[in-house]
Amino acid sequence: MHRGKGLKFVGDSRVLAPSSRKPMLPKDYSEYPGKTEAFWPNFLLKEWMIGAVFLVGILCLTVAHPAPLERIADPTDTGYIPLPDWYFLFLYQLLKYSYASGPYTVIGSMVIPGLTFGGLLLAPFLDRGPERRAIRRPLATGFMLLAITSIIFLTWQSVATHDWKKAAEQGKIVAQVTIDKNNPGYQVFKQQGCINCHGENLQGGAGAPTLVGTGLKADQIAQIAQHGKGNMPPGIFKGNAEQLKQLTEFIAGLGKK
Ligand code: HEC
Repeated sequence: MHRGKGLKFVGDSRVLAPSSRKPMLPKDYSEYPGKTEAFWPNFLLKEWMIGAVFLVGILCLTVAHPAPLERIADPTDTGYIPLPDWYFLFLYQLLKYSYASGPYTVIGSMVIPGLTFGGLLLAPFLDRGPERRAIRRPLATGFMLLAITSIIFLTWQSVATHDWKKAAEQGKIVAQVTIDKNNPGYQVFKQQGCINCHGENLQGGAGAPTLVGTGLKADQIAQIAQHGKGNMPPGIFKGNAEQLKQLTEFIAGLGKK
């Protein structure tokens, strides 16, 4: 008998051939000359170089597009609509649907995200087949596609339904002006109750806009103070002409450059 390479020479057929026993040894890559390299320094250097490219890229992006800042957070402003960062928008959008919000908040905030992320966590234990082709793993592929489409859809929905104009208005950084509270105009502002809606620094709130930098002229403000405007009821100002003049000139002068 020729004892050549590739021939299994087994004396007893009841004894398993050595090749059918799989030793727990790492694969020997010496059969792939040129396709391996030393970890140090070759491989690590390449990794670092790629890392540096991304780092510089991200640094350039942060310089080119600074984080959009809004005004200082105001916990008393209940009208403000907060928005999470883009990668959480899909979770945020989920909470807007009727069976994931209100009395069902637990479903939207715990059950659905818990099941999906828990499933992802358990995937290596549940899906143990040797098959690697996506087409032969309908369950895994199906769930993945479902998750990706839901995330894309929900993110898109939340962007499409958000009132960006109103949000920009709410978050606008208004020029900081020091309000001269000893100004007679300010005293009138306080006495006439304008302060209740427009705030003690005329910053606005509870639906009333800021009165700093409105661009309105004194006579226009007088008109609004006496006759109201939109959601501002008429007849709020009940003082005399002198007070009206002090009040309107004070407001007209705010935030003027
Ligand atoms: C009941 C709450 C309330 C009070 C009190 C009030 N305002 Fe207003 N004011 C508003 C609201 C709401 C608006 C926004 C009106 C709109 O455009 O719908 C407004 C708008 C204004 C504007 C127009 C601002 C702009 O940029 O267009 C001026 C000026 C103004 N108020 C002045 C006054 C003065 C002066 C007083 C006191 C005499 C006063 N307000 C009292 C609620 C109030």
